[in-house]
Amino acid sequence: MDIHNNKSFNQEPEPFWRESVQLPEFPKLAQNISPDVTVVGGGIAGLTTAYLLAQEGKKVVLIDAGRLVNGTTGHTTAKITAQHGLIYDELINHFGEEFTKKYYEGNMKALAFMEQTLQTENVECNYTKQDAYIYSTTDQYNNKIEKEYKAYQKLGISSDLVEQLPIDLPVQNAVVMKNQAQFHPLKYFKALVDSIVTNGGQIFEQTMAKTINEGESTQVVTEDGYHLDSEYVVIATHFPFYDGMGGYFARLKPDRSYVLGVKTNKEYPGGMYLSAEEPTRSLRFTEDSDGDKLVLIGGDNHKTGQGKDTLEHYQALETFGNEVFGIREVKYRWSAQDLITLDKVPYIGPLTKKHPAILVATGFRKWGMTLGTLAGQILSDHVLGNHNLYSDLFTPSRFKADPSIRKFAKENANVAAQLMKGKLDIPTKKADDIQIGEGAIILVNGRRCGGYRNDEGELYVVDTTCTHMGCECSWNHGDHTWDCPCHGSRFAVDGTVVEGPAKQPLSRMEDQLK
Ligand code: FES
Repeated sequence: MDIHNNKSFNQEPEPFWRESVQLPEFPKLAQNISPDVTVVGGGIAGLTTAYLLAQEGKKVVLIDAGRLVNGTTGHTTAKITAQHGLIYDELINHFGEEFTKKYYEGNMKALAFMEQTLQTENVECNYTKQDAYIYSTTDQYNNKIEKEYKAYQKLGISSDLVEQLPIDLPVQNAVVMKNQAQFHPLKYFKALVDSIVTNGGQIFEQTMAKTINEGESTQVVTEDGYHLDSEYVVIATHFPFYDGMGGYFARLKPDRSYVLGVKTNKEYPGGMYLSAEEPTRSLRFTEDSDGDKLVLIGGDNHKTGQGKDTLEHYQALETFGNEVFGIREVKYRWSAQDLITLDKVPYIGPLTKKHPAILVATGFRKWGMTLGTLAGQILSDHVLGNHNLYSDLFTPSRFKADPSIRKFAKENANVAAQLMKGKLDIPTKKADDIQIGEGAIILVNGRRCGGYRNDEGELYVVDTTCTHMGCECSWNHGDHTWDCPCHGSRFAVDGTVVEGPAKQPLSRMEDQLK
């Protein structure tokens, strides 16, 4: 099948969650303001922090560069689980049993907190308990699953080792974590937003934080030049918008993955599934607006800007879905960007040792529902002066020799290679060669540029040199963005920043065509 002509793939990517729930809209910040705490970023970590602080009577202001919950949080598959891939055997080997047990407990407490919050806020959000499975299909991973199961037993995790799944997918074995959960994330976030506002918190959208001035108070400066002076700033912007010499760009790897929402021929029996092997395959179901099951098929991840044609990732998921269930209809597709730390454990806490009043939460890998909630609990406790049992696990200034140094060297060698590769790629296309709906690297006055022609025939031309640290962006055909292979910045066809760490847009180059 020619995927570029497939009707399923011609619509703009839009998550099912957003289509089925409307969040309230908030104004842009248009004055200076002095709250107790400024929270930057309206995803799960920022919203949970603001929710908990507003409940405790703190004067909280939350700002978001776009709309609330429109980043990774809004593009999740919304599995609420402590089963974060094959992680527990690895964590025991790197950090020991006590650390790993606390990691598991912290995530399970986050799950319990979410369940409790649904009850206290009286939210109906399709929350159901589900068992979570990681399965293997090869000898190599069969062994890893057995090791993971042994790690579960050591940690006292309620689990099973099985040789068959409830779905019709041949596997070698699978490790089950019992009593995990799934829900409709936007219904939950709407309840948090309503509660923040009811408790006196203020929310501003379309308000981009540019930098932080550190003085007597901690001052966030917005793109429009307004100031938010507060005792604490919480950076929950996915990639931290302010680095404070913390070197986050060198310690976070951006990873893109894809989701299809499909109607299937075979009945989906329940359960949440994840393949141990790469490329990953993830499955769960939710309820569509007509009450039918909508199966979410996720995975096919790759480092941002370094994959094949992005439409092929959706195609790979569709092929898998057809093999397992038979797909009647592809109703939704969307993609997400996750950040992975050097040792796979998120950074949650003070930005650096020198910044006790600037707090950060990032690097949730793909497990932001529990880890983002846990981050909200840890950061709000920090502000309130409460002891939190799990904060020491996630201290951002940690740098353990293994595996961080090896990963640091590998990631930065990859960045250097991408930097060189981009500079050496000589484009052969010219602006006039670009067809409607096409994006491509073109040569403009001897310079590498990116061109895109929209449905009306209008041509956008940008300098593809990333404004973060100078790597060359490549075209993301699935999402119609320019993606940087080095640290994952993404830009719209007109050059505006979609995702950081870059803060400045790509330069427009249309003038050079004349
Ligand atoms: Fe760092 Fe582009 S994101 S160079």
